[in-house]
Amino acid sequence: MTVLETSNLCKEYRRNGDPFLAVDNACLEVGEGELIGVVGRSGSGKTTLLNLAAGLLKPTSGGVRFEGADILALPDGEMSRLRNRRIGYVPQGQSLLANLTVFDNVRLPFHFLPRGDDASGRTSFLLDELGISHLADMYPAQLSGGEMRRAAIARAMMNRPILLLADEPTGDLDPAAIRGVMDVFAALAARGVAVVFSTHEDEAVGRADRVVEMASGKLSERMHSEA
Ligand SMILES: Nc1ncnc2c1ncn2[C@@H]1O[C@H](COP(=O)(O)OP(=O)(O)O)[C@@H](O)[C@H]1O
Ligand SMILES: [Mg+2]
Repeated sequence: MTVLETSNLCKEYRRNGDPFLAVDNACLEVGEGELIGVVGRSGSGKTTLLNLAAGLLKPTSGGVRFEGADILALPDGEMSRLRNRRIGYVPQGQSLLANLTVFDNVRLPFHFLPRGDDASGRTSFLLDELGISHLADMYPAQLSGGEMRRAAIARAMMNRPILLLADEPTGDLDPAAIRGVMDVFAALAARGVAVVFSTHEDEAVGRADRVVEMASGKLSERMHSEA
């Protein structure tokens, strides 16, 4: 099943008054359980592409279909609801709230989505799955970079998304922590979650099922031998 499909996606920005395409006719199809790495130098449009895929940004032109539905046709409120329910997003860098414990950070998205689930049980499960149960009562400032990244991934998984988008989740991590994050992504993908992550690290690139490359906003499929 196709989870996400972007067609001829364009995002235009201006630099010194001149328009340019930060994302230039990007076509990307993401299937259930696929683990996709997005590579490309800084400024090539990776973050913009992920934000468009998440519905956080509106494209200048082109389409985004999520589970077959045209998300650009949805009113903002509907889009937010869909995002909260079906899409997990791990922003670049440190994104945990400093004054909340790891447990409360991970549980946070649940408050935006009341339902019959056991929020505390789900939080404990995710902390365990990401190997950070022992850090539940700690504050972000007390964690290593890898631990913070795991907590941010757990938070993104709170509402059981079908698509997880992660912007440079392995940035600034040592090789062991990179392996840890990629092990988590591989396990999620094996359970059917589609995972799309941007990265600069070869260790992470090598773990992807597919690698796509952004260059000046243009997206192309990278052959496995090049990865
Ligand atoms: N809000 C914005 N306004 C204008 N230009 C932007 C904006 N966001 C990103 N850009 C530009 O778009 C290009 C792609 O940025 P980005 O998607 O952040 O690249 P990457 O994540 O690959 O480093 C860059 O040239 C960046 O300066
Ligand atoms: Mg970026």
